[in-house]
Amino acid sequence: MKFFIDTADVAEIRDLASTGMVDGVTTNPSLIAKSGRPIAEVIAEICDVVDGPVSAEVTATDHETMLREGRYLRGIADNIAVKVPLTVDGLKTCKVLADEGTAVNVTLCFSPAQALLAAKAGAAFISPFVGRLDDIGTEGMGLIAEIVEIYGAYDFATEILVASVRGPHHVVEAAKLGADVSTLPPAVLRAMYNHPLTDKGLAAFMADWAKTGQSILAPE
Ligand code: E4P
Repeated sequence: MKFFIDTADVAEIRDLASTGMVDGVTTNPSLIAKSGRPIAEVIAEICDVVDGPVSAEVTATDHETMLREGRYLRGIADNIAVKVPLTVDGLKTCKVLADEGTAVNVTLCFSPAQALLAAKAGAAFISPFVGRLDDIGTEGMGLIAEIVEIYGAYDFATEILVASVRGPHHVVEAAKLGADVSTLPPAVLRAMYNHPLTDKGLAAFMADWAKTGQSILAPE
């Protein structure tokens, strides 16, 4: 499973990229707004830090303007994935951009029918939002299972990018279902490292080691 980082905070991305776990980045208009920076500037900087796909989202809602925005955004760097919403105009835009060779991430997917349309429109990624479905009392992971089944039946090339992830449990469940990518808020990736027994075990090992007076490396 690939891990994308769901943020427009370049310092966070740089820090997490050093772990070797970051395969790409997703942003959305809310995350760009939170960064307080011009979209082209922040996206270009992220693309310098991460080699994998960096999703940059259009903000128009009509096809013509979405297409112009998408063409502008893909010009920022070679690893841009243009993100479009799952609407009629969004999928029309997806089809044109995909036919031009641009990777498109179709976002705001909440149903298997929508995911089927996105695959037919040539999306490189479909982004089902599991957390927001959980928030309204629907089991978000059920949607991932349905998309895995549908895409598998037709061998669609569209990658399933699990979005709106709220914790390590979502990542593990998505991985068990064989989803291609999870996009993680930085705190979720950090939380994945943690287990209280790891901390406890390490503290005990260090205490015992200190009693030996040994050092593995010769003093410099
Ligand atoms: C990613 O592409 C989505 O924009 C993001 O995961 C949405 O997450 P949220 O529901 O926590 O805002």
